This record gives sequence, structure tokens and C-alpha cells, in this order.
Amino acid sequence: MSETSRDALRERASKLDAADPLAPQRGLFALDDGVYLDGNSLGALPVHVPARVQDVLTRQWGELRIRSWDESGWWTAPERIGDRIAPLVGASAGQIVVGDSTSVNVFKAVVAATRLAGEGRDEILVDATTFPTDGYIAASAARLTGHRIVPVAPDGVPAALGPRTAAVLLNQVDFRTGRLHDLPGLTAAVHAAGAIAVWDLCHSAGALPVGLDEHGVDLAVGCTYKYLNGGPGSPAYLYVAERHQAAFDSPLPGWNSHADPFGMTPDYAPADGSVRGRVGTPDIVSMLTLEAALDVWDGVSVDAVRDKSLALTDFFLECVEAYVPAGRVTSLTPAAHAERGSQVALRCDDAERVMRRLIERGVVGDLRRPDVLRFGFTPLYVGFADAERAARVLAEVLDEVPAG
Ligand SMILES: Cc1ncc(COP(=O)(O)O)c(C=O)c1O
Repeated sequence: MSETSRDALRERASKLDAADPLAPQRGLFALDDGVYLDGNSLGALPVHVPARVQDVLTRQWGELRIRSWDESGWWTAPERIGDRIAPLVGASAGQIVVGDSTSVNVFKAVVAATRLAGEGRDEILVDATTFPTDGYIAASAARLTGHRIVPVAPDGVPAALGPRTAAVLLNQVDFRTGRLHDLPGLTAAVHAAGAIAVWDLCHSAGALPVGLDEHGVDLAVGCTYKYLNGGPGSPAYLYVAERHQAAFDSPLPGWNSHADPFGMTPDYAPADGSVRGRVGTPDIVSMLTLEAALDVWDGVSVDAVRDKSLALTDFFLECVEAYVPAGRVTSLTPAAHAERGSQVALRCDDAERVMRRLIERGVVGDLRRPDVLRFGFTPLYVGFADAERAARVLAEVLDEVPAG
């Protein structure tokens, strides 16, 4: 790579950064002078969050104590924060409840989906390339409900659907390759077969427009610690489309989802609306940390985030192509925008060593064993100069690590 081409790419990066309408958002985050490309695993800390959490601990808990369930809005936090997430995933208010982990919400959603689908359907189709927890949980849900799991690649779903299909569990973006699946088309196909569509949005929420209501998704789950920056282990969420809420029959009907939780009656009567998706006492400190973190989305359009995400991943791929000697890495991430999430996955020999060296040099991505380097592009705080630097450092590291 000649110095002229390197200078040209750097100059382009600086022009793109100067024209980036989301560039000011970066100042809202606690970042150092490295390049953080792991926001698809753990989002960065928004700088205002610690003071808000401090208030939760010292005033709300320390001074108000039990009064905070009411006076600090603790009791209603799961639905209130659900309504903050709703516009980011294209849902109108009243359909998202925050709480529990994604895994637990997958369980609730898959079992509830089989109950919504009704009798006579005994198959659950599960994305064969899924993040493992979804597969494990779906398999257990199937055993409990007497269904059979059918593993199927997302693009094979239309052919695998049939009168026996009860529910289909899919990821909108593949955690390994960053491939974006066709949520509108697949949801329509699932509905045409009379089945229920459950989507895992972990790698899409906060990175691209999801359009849950627009595309008629039935149930969805997602985490909040990636592109939503809710913090380590922040609670997940469950979306139950309004049209299904009255019939949503949770397999974990804890007292928090009761119509009269303080009635303390022995019989269970489900609450109306998204409250029905709750289980037990919410994890208030994590939940309010997430609530504070969501402030960084004020005034941000998800369409603008998507535009920048595609421009960033395009530019990174272009820099990789320019800097990295041919054959050293292969992109697993689709070139077509319609099939790309917000991460780039590069297959590479000796990936573990390469990622270790990248991190030592301040370029933080992650590794999916055995041979995949993952680089997540979080449009709120990653810029074009970061993308150029990451590709350049990758080329330097590969130069030091002998080709396998
Ligand atoms: C697609 C997907 N589903 C589920 C999970 C895990 O969910 P949790 O640990 O919140 O149960 C992850 C974590 O990265 C994920 O990427």
C-alpha cells in the first residue's frame, strides 16, 4: 500500500467525520484514545450515567428506602423503560416490558408462542445458526411443551414451514457473521403458514430500524447491553404485540405479572398489557442504569444510525481491502446492504493471536472461535477515522503474524 493511498483514505475519513451528523454523540460516552469496536458485545458507558446511578443508590435507596417503589417510580420502571426502547425498534407504546435476561425472555416467548399457535402444531423451527442460548432454551421449551425442534437456516425457513409449525425463532442479525436476515419477508412467510414469529433483536436493536409493528412481528426479545449501552448484565426486554396480549400465557407467571400483585391471592390472574410479561421483582439498579443510558438516544433517528452504520462498515471493508494483503482475511459479512447488520466479521488464520495483538495496540474487537475476528460499529460513538485506523493496525499486525 502506497503512502499516497493511505493519505487519501485518511483524508476521506476526516471528511466523512466532519460531515457526520452523529459525530457529536461521541462526546456523550466515556472512551479513551483507542478504537472501541466491541459495542456489539458491551456498549460503552454514557458519561452522565454514574451520577444518575449514584442518586438511585444514595437518595432513592439510601434515603427514601421503601418509599421509592412508588415515589421514585421503581414499580412502573419495566414498562416505562420498555416505552423508551419501543421507538428504537419500531413499536408503539405499551408492548415492551424490560426485565430478566434475553435467555429467560426467549423461554417466555417460545412457550407462549406455542400456546398462541394452539393445538395440532408440534414443531418449533429454530435458526440453525442461532446464538447458542436461544437454541438451548428453545430445546428445553420444546421438551416441556411436547414440541419437536427443527433446526433450519433462516433462508430455509419458508421451505420448512407447514401446518405442523407452531413457532419460529429467528435472529434478525447473525451474531457471528453480522448477516441481516429478512425480518419482513420471513415474518410474512411464518404468518402465511399460520405460525407465530419470535425474533431475537440482540444484534439489531439500536443499530438499524427493526419495524416490529410495521412488519407484524408477534413476539420479540433483545438485550440492552450492546447497542443500547445499558451496562454489563443490564436487563433484557420482551415485546408482545398488542393483538396477542390478551392471550399471552406466560410460562413464568410470577407475582409481578399478576393483575393484583398485592392482593396476595393463591390463584393467578394475569395483568393486562405488557405487565403480563413480567416475572418477579425487577432488578432496579440495573434497570435504572439502563434508563439513564437511554438518554443518549434523545433526538437521534434510527435511520441516521443505519445510514452511518452502513457507511462505516463499507469504509472499513474498503480500508481492509486496501491495506491487508490479499488472502489474509475473508469477510463473512455480506457486501449487500440489505443483508448487513452493524458488524464486520473477518475469517483469519491465527485469529486469537491477531485479536490479542490488536487489543494491545488499542483496537478492541473480539473473537469468535476458532477463526473469526468481529468488529462492531456502533454509530453513536465510532467514527470513520476509527475505521481507517482499525484496518491499518490490522494490516500491521498481520504483517507481524506469519501467514498460516
Ligand atoms: C443473539 C443473542 N441472543 C441472546 C444472547 C444472550 O442473552 P442473555 O445473556 O441476556 O441471556 C446474546 C448475547 O450476546 C445474543 O447475542
